[in-house]
Order: sequence, then C-alpha cells, then structure tokens
Amino acid sequence: MSIVEKFLNMEYGPALEDPREAVAWLDGHKRRFGHFINGNWQEPAAGELFDTTDPSTGELVAKVAQGTAADVNAAVEAARAALGPWQGLTPHARARFLYALARQIQKHSRRLAVLEPIDNGKPIRESRDIDIPLVARHFYHHAGWAQLLEEEFPGYTACGVVGQIIPWNFPLLMLSWKIAPALAAGNTVVLKPAEFTPITALAFAEICQEVGLPGGVVNIVTGDGRTGEALVKHPDVDKIAFTGSTEVGRAIRKATAQSHKKISLELGGKSPFIIFDDADLDSAVEGLVDGIWLNQGQVCCAGSRLLMQEGIAEVLVGKIRARMETLRVGAPLDKAIDIGAIVAPVQLARIRRLVDQGVREGATCCQPSAALPSKGLYFPPTLLLNVHPTSTVAQEEIFGPVLAAMTFRTVSEGVELANNTAYGLAASVWSESINVALHVAAQIKAGVVWVNSTNLFDASCGFGGYRESGFGREGGREGLLEYLEPVWFKQAPRIKPAHRSEVAASQELDNEDENDHTPAIDRTVKLYIGGKQARPDSGYSMSVKGGDGNVLGEIPLGNRKDIRNAVEAARKAGVWAKATAHNRAQVLYYIAENLSQRRHEIAGRLARAVGEKQAEAEVNLGIERIFVYAAWADKFDGAVHNPPFRNVALAMNEAIGTLGIVCPAEAPFLGFLSLVMPAIANGNTVVAIPSEIYPLIVGDLYQLFDTSDLPGGVVNIVTGRPAELMKVLAEHDDVDAIWCFGDEASSASVKTFSAGNLKQVWTNEGRAIDWFNPKQGEGRWYLDRAVQVKNIWVPYGE
Ligand code: NAI
Repeated sequence: MSIVEKFLNMEYGPALEDPREAVAWLDGHKRRFGHFINGNWQEPAAGELFDTTDPSTGELVAKVAQGTAADVNAAVEAARAALGPWQGLTPHARARFLYALARQIQKHSRRLAVLEPIDNGKPIRESRDIDIPLVARHFYHHAGWAQLLEEEFPGYTACGVVGQIIPWNFPLLMLSWKIAPALAAGNTVVLKPAEFTPITALAFAEICQEVGLPGGVVNIVTGDGRTGEALVKHPDVDKIAFTGSTEVGRAIRKATAQSHKKISLELGGKSPFIIFDDADLDSAVEGLVDGIWLNQGQVCCAGSRLLMQEGIAEVLVGKIRARMETLRVGAPLDKAIDIGAIVAPVQLARIRRLVDQGVREGATCCQPSAALPSKGLYFPPTLLLNVHPTSTVAQEEIFGPVLAAMTFRTVSEGVELANNTAYGLAASVWSESINVALHVAAQIKAGVVWVNSTNLFDASCGFGGYRESGFGREGGREGLLEYLEPVWFKQAPRIKPAHRSEVAASQELDNEDENDHTPAIDRTVKLYIGGKQARPDSGYSMSVKGGDGNVLGEIPLGNRKDIRNAVEAARKAGVWAKATAHNRAQVLYYIAENLSQRRHEIAGRLARAVGEKQAEAEVNLGIERIFVYAAWADKFDGAVHNPPFRNVALAMNEAIGTLGIVCPAEAPFLGFLSLVMPAIANGNTVVAIPSEIYPLIVGDLYQLFDTSDLPGGVVNIVTGRPAELMKVLAEHDDVDAIWCFGDEASSASVKTFSAGNLKQVWTNEGRAIDWFNPKQGEGRWYLDRAVQVKNIWVPYGE
C-alpha cells in the first residue's frame, strides 16, 4: 500500500474522553438531586422524582425532582426575599459575584464539558470548545455590565424576580444567557432547566454555593412543562424569559396576558443558508457542516433551509454529499466524532416523522452510507433535495440534522425565498461579493445574519428573532435592557379606567352627509388612510362630546375593513424605512414647522375637550417633541461589536415594520405625537387609533401631515370604538408590533389578542404616564421600542 493510499484509507480510532471525574461527581450526589432553593438543596414538596438518561446509552444519569407549584412558590419566595439585599449591594459587589461565577465555571470546565454530552448527547468536542467557553464568557462579560450598570443605564432598575425557562439543546449555555444578564441588572432568578437536561444546571447550583452567592439570588427548580407553567403563572414573578418552541412561547404569551409580567421569547426558526454562485463553495460547505449539523441540528438558528443559486446547485450538492460521507456519527464522549445522539426518543420520532413526510411530499432523501451505532438515539446527517418551498420540511422546524435544499435564480428571488417563513431568527449568506452579501443581509427579516460564516455567538452581541421567532434579545446592551425598567415607570400609579364614558359610545347616526352640518357640531372628520381622507366602510359616524356634555363633532365609525385597508396602506409605504435618516428627520422638522404655524387654531379646538391650559401645553410641547424625534432620527444608530473572533458584528437598529398604536386617552394630541413620532423617526409605518376622548384630532393631524411631505401611508389613522379597533389590529397577521397605552384592561386584551402571530406588544401596563414630563414622555425608552436590533456578522481583520 502506497503512502497516498494509506493516507486515504486511514481510519479514526476511538478517542474516548475519560468520564471518571464527572461520574464521581454524579455518584457523590448519589445520582439524586432535589431543587436548589435559597442556597440549599431541598427535597421536592410532593416527593416525586424523574429519571434523566444518557441518550447514547439509555442509562440513568440521575434522578431529579419534579417541581410542583409548592416548590415553585418556595423558590419565588426565596428570590423575593433575596431581592432587596441583592439590590442593596453596590454594582461592584454584584460584579465580583459574576466574576467569581465565571472563574469557577472555568475551574470546573472539563467536568461541565463531560456532563453535558452525558445528559444531552452532544459531542464533547462541541461542549468543550463551544458551549462551556461561551458560558464563562457570558459571565465575564456580564460582570462588566454589573460594574457599569449605573453609568450605562442611569434611571433604570431591575425588573425584580425573574422566572426563566430554558430548553435542552444548549443546557448550560442557555442558563448562562438567562442568569448572567438577570443578575448583572440586579434581579434574582428562579430557573427551570429542561426536563431532558437538568444536570449542568444543578452543577451550576453547586458553583453558586462554592462562590458564596447569597441564598435566593439563584434558585433552580427542575421539572417538566407543568413546573414551567407554575412558574409562568406565579403572581409574584415580575418577568418571564423563555427559550423553546413557538407553541409554548404562544402559550406563555396568553398565560401572562392578564398580568404585568414583562416577557421575552426566544423561539424557533427555519433559518436560510443562502449560497450565491460567486461564493467560495468549499468554505460554504464547511459552514454548512456547522450550520445544520452542529448539535445534531438541534439548534434554534440552524441553517436548515439550503438556498442555492441555480448555476452552482449541482456542483454544490456533489460537494455536500461527499462531505456528508466523512461525517462521523457516534458516542458523544468520543472526541473524534462530529455528530452525537438525539436528545430523547420523542425528538428522534419527530425527526423521522418529518423526514418521512418530506419524502412523501416529493423530496429526495440523501444520507451517507455509514451505519449508525447499534445502540442509542442516532439519526444520520440528511439532505433533502427537490424540496418545494411550501412543503412541510421547508416550513416546519425539524430540530434535527436535516437540511432541506431549494434553488433560486436571482438575488431578489433568493431574498424572497429566504423570507418565505413565519420565523425570523437567523440567516447565513455566502458570497464573495461584499455588495451582494450586505445587500441581502439588509433585506432578510432575521435578528442575526452571518456573512460567510455561521453559528457565531458572543455575549456582547444581541441574539433573538423577528416575527414568530419571538421578541427580545439576549446578549449585548439590548439583552440587558430586557431585565431593566425605568425607575419612574415602576413607581407610576395605575390609571383608573375612566375617560371611556366621555365618548358617546354607541350613538350611531345615520349615514354621514357632508352637507348636513347641524350648528352644534363644529367638525366632521374622516379616516386617514394611505395619505387620503377616507369614508368609513360602515357608513356610520359617531358623535364626540366634550367634558361639558356638548357635542364637539363627529368621527367616522371605523371597522375591521378600515383597519385592514390602513394596514395595507402602511405596508405599501414600507419604503419609508429605506428613506435616509436625514430625509426622515427633514420631514419631521417640516411637520413641526407647520404645527408651529397652526398652533393657535389647533389648540383652540383641542381646548374644547381638554381645557385651554392643557391644550396649549399639548401643542407647544408637541412641537418640541417632534423636534426631539427629528433630532434623533439620524442619531439613533446601532453599534459595531468586537467579539473575540475575526469578525465584527454590526448591530443595526432596524425598523420593526408596521406598528399598530393605540394612543392614550388623557393627552389626545401630545400622547399621539409621543408615540407616533419615535415610531416613524425610525422608519416604521403606523396605523394609529387616536385618543378616545378627542378623536377629532385626526382632522388636524392629517392636514398637518398632508402639508409636510409625509409620504402617504406612513401614518394612517382610524377612528371608532378603540376597543374594537384594537382587537382587529392586535389580531392582524400583517402588523409586526402593537403599542397600547390605556388602562389595565386594554393592556391585558391586547396581549391576549396578539398571541396569534406573536407580534411584539408594548403597553404602559395601565400605568399613568406624565406626557408633559419629558423624562417620562420622550427619549430612549420609546426609541428602543421602535427598533429591533439585527446583528450582522462580517469577517474582518486577520
Ligand atoms: P418546549 O418548548 O416544550 O420546551 C422548552 C422548555 O419549556 C422546557 O423547559 C419545558 O419544560 C418548558 N415548558 C413546556 N411547556 C411549558 C408550559 N406550558 N409553560 C412553561 N414552560 C413549559 O420544547 P420541547 O417539547 O422540548 O421541544 C419541542 C420542539 O420545540 C422541538 O422539536 C423543537 O422543534 C422546538 N424547540 C425549539 C427550541 C428553540 O430553541 N428554538 C428549543 C427546544 C425545542
């Protein structure tokens, strides 16, 4: 045999990691764990335990407590009791604890890197080189945020007690993504790990003890979905942070709707991996190995849809299939394997079912020739060819080592195909042309885009989704904000559900007749849709009364159809996001200028509803508020992160899209401007429902917009019964986010109705906002909500 032949035929021998230390640790705990509450191990209240097993052997790893509502309650009580003392520490003292946790994780890194594959089935190569180093990095980075908290987030305070629920795919990494920012911001936590993979969370609990973290700051309650549900429903939890399936995310949205819990959801994905014909195909194939076969494809941002430009498809498929032949599937603790075991039988069954369905729907299934290990839960790396974009395997998250391939012809077709999904978590774009890559990155609706790279994560860079991939970010500045609230907001009283009676709610008049103005009515206004005044579909109007009971005028009674038209107009005006920030600023300044000229007239009319003094203040402050957002329009920039790789990550503040805005009752003019201006300054288009006490303001507003070069459709205004209109907006699948500023009941309703497409919801939680106080009524708090951060990772430097 020649040397070349020998080289080509060389076989890998097994390179098994010695698990003795990790096994000794498990045995030291007698392979039995209670909950970690108030700094101590506690027996489960109901005494129930369940098994967690090794997916590669089926053997027992340990018996773990099944958390009940009583256990969750004990943990929440401990977290609540610990909150005051934890917040009482200086930022530096909290930073020291986070730093100590990072150090201790590093000291135990090998044990953790071995425990993870035993419990989860992932290759040790990944847990050792990716998961655990990133866990330590997360705590280090957030030790820094803890230190800088007061300087970087003045006026902000922690949410309070945070409930955190994590999945099984990156057990310790997801824990660190949750716990590090929460503690850095001064919260205390109750975390529930996934039932398939609780072990490293329990090992982390011991690390908390070792560093002397005060009892109750971190509590770990194990159990299944029922335990998670008890945590979500607990009345004394201030925030829920969840990573997992879209289905459970939706359930959490609904379950928290009636409460004031802040929530962040990191859900599923069906991320595109787009390869253009000028890409370096060999690099792209290596990227793909990471993109879809990392962690057996059980990755929320896995590049599970391969989109190939037609000209290179054949060559590329050949290369992928050749590479698949060299992937080694086997025992997770073997350092020479690429693909480990699937986490649980139910997940393996799901993968099989979906692949079978894909084949039934016309896909061709390619798998490598090597046999799988005879024992354990394995699935081979799989490439599905000839997948139709609408087929199940192109649309549903499989969460396994399965790649669904499709082709496209032009760049715009590639973008269209990439965005043809309800999700929007991540994307990987491969092209040697910087123009093509960045042009595509800008158009993809996803929270993270990797250019000529894939699956890169860092604590300094936000991670999270658009659309049904959830909302909120983890990592970076924006991730920390999820765990903070303005101090004034937390202290603001709830408003009484008043005002509503002041609108003659159901006083429907006959079909509106423009020529029929009775003397008592000073104005009849129309809806404002697509830059035009529009009659309501219903053909009805309703009268608006002032505080003194006199009729002030009539407003159109908008309905479902009008909202639909307004959303369509807003969507069509999407080019507003592409206008330069300078242009947007100019339009806003022009609005302010025109308002300034008409201020007496507008204030005069507004005075009939809110009194002269308030009317004058609303208009004068309104001019200033528009100036504020005109000023911000070209300054609310993103950031360039410098993660510890040969990349930069461009954190772009992108418009969210079409926003529904339900304006506050109490300041009809200023409240409208305070919400609509930050939204449009950042490139969003809006469908607004004006204040119910003086919806007639729409007449003044559209005259203002019409004379200020605001493109038609950027702001649309529909009047009518706010509660009805809000429901239609919240349920509308083509609305990306909804802001609702009203009483507690409307806040609860909007959250419930918006669960369908998981649109972002922002409400005042029924709290009174002083719109006349710039500290409350304007600024970054609004700007942060008007954008979503997209991190674009670009190779940079050597
Ligand atoms: P899951 O969403 O049910 O589980 C995630 C976590 O939520 C676990 O800790 C679980 O105990 C908890 N949970 C379950 N029901 C709950 C409820 N009603 N209230 C509160 N917490 C609850 O995900 P599962 O069943 O493990 O996997 C199902 C599918 O979800 C997978 O096949 C995959 O497609 C997807 N998935 C997506 C993840 C992602 O990161 N995008 C992570 C895990 C699963």
